[in-house]
Amino acid sequence: MGDQDWWNEVYSGPREEIPWDIGVPSEQLVELIEKGEIKPCPALDICCGTGTEAIYLAKNGFKVSAIDISKEAIKIAEKKAKEAEVKVDFRVGNVLEIPFQDNSFGFVNDRGCFHVFASEYRKWFADEIHRVMRPHGVYFLRCFSDKELGDWGPYRISKEEIINTFSDLFEIFGIDDIKLNGRRGSHRGYKCLMKKK
Ligand SMILES: C[S@@+](CC[C@H](N)C(=O)[O-])C[C@H]1O[C@@H](n2cnc3c(N)ncnc32)[C@H](O)[C@@H]1O
Repeated sequence: MGDQDWWNEVYSGPREEIPWDIGVPSEQLVELIEKGEIKPCPALDICCGTGTEAIYLAKNGFKVSAIDISKEAIKIAEKKAKEAEVKVDFRVGNVLEIPFQDNSFGFVNDRGCFHVFASEYRKWFADEIHRVMRPHGVYFLRCFSDKELGDWGPYRISKEEIINTFSDLFEIFGIDDIKLNGRRGSHRGYKCLMKKK
């Protein structure tokens, strides 16, 4: 999808025009945390946008770091965390060069990150996520699926692409259909929970 300037321009505009920025944590993340399947641990939110899910994780006891390529998004996220009175280590950064050491995180949260990368970057993406995760750490992917019509916005990802990209490095616990809620309605997506091998 867009470059850094494009993302900054989106986040400099009115919030209500940012399609994915719904202001509440996704039902998939809430369900995962409420079920107690992932215990509080050092967590990384990749492509965190304005920080909604990072802040939700911090409120639930996780020690959260979060990165996004847009400095405008990070400015908004920092303000929101201050208002929510939670601590999140927000960084402007590229997911393909994550500014953290190897084996840093027990949980990586991804709502709409992987699906912004074209196919030639996907293995690189998987290697980088894997590098910063602790052994047996959990990666929670949510992306547009190939069942979503049209070709605007994010890439449509097939189950085969998820398996081909991640299965060498992660144990995959199923790929399920979801609705990804946005400001302009919901979209067909997949959720996938994986554990670092
Ligand atoms: C679809 S939005 C999702 C934002 C957020 N996760 C949410 O659910 O609201 C994709 C995000 O990826 C960020 N992004 C795009 N390319 C990136 C990269 N190479 N590294 C880090 N962030 C990136 C954009 O700035 C944008 O915030």
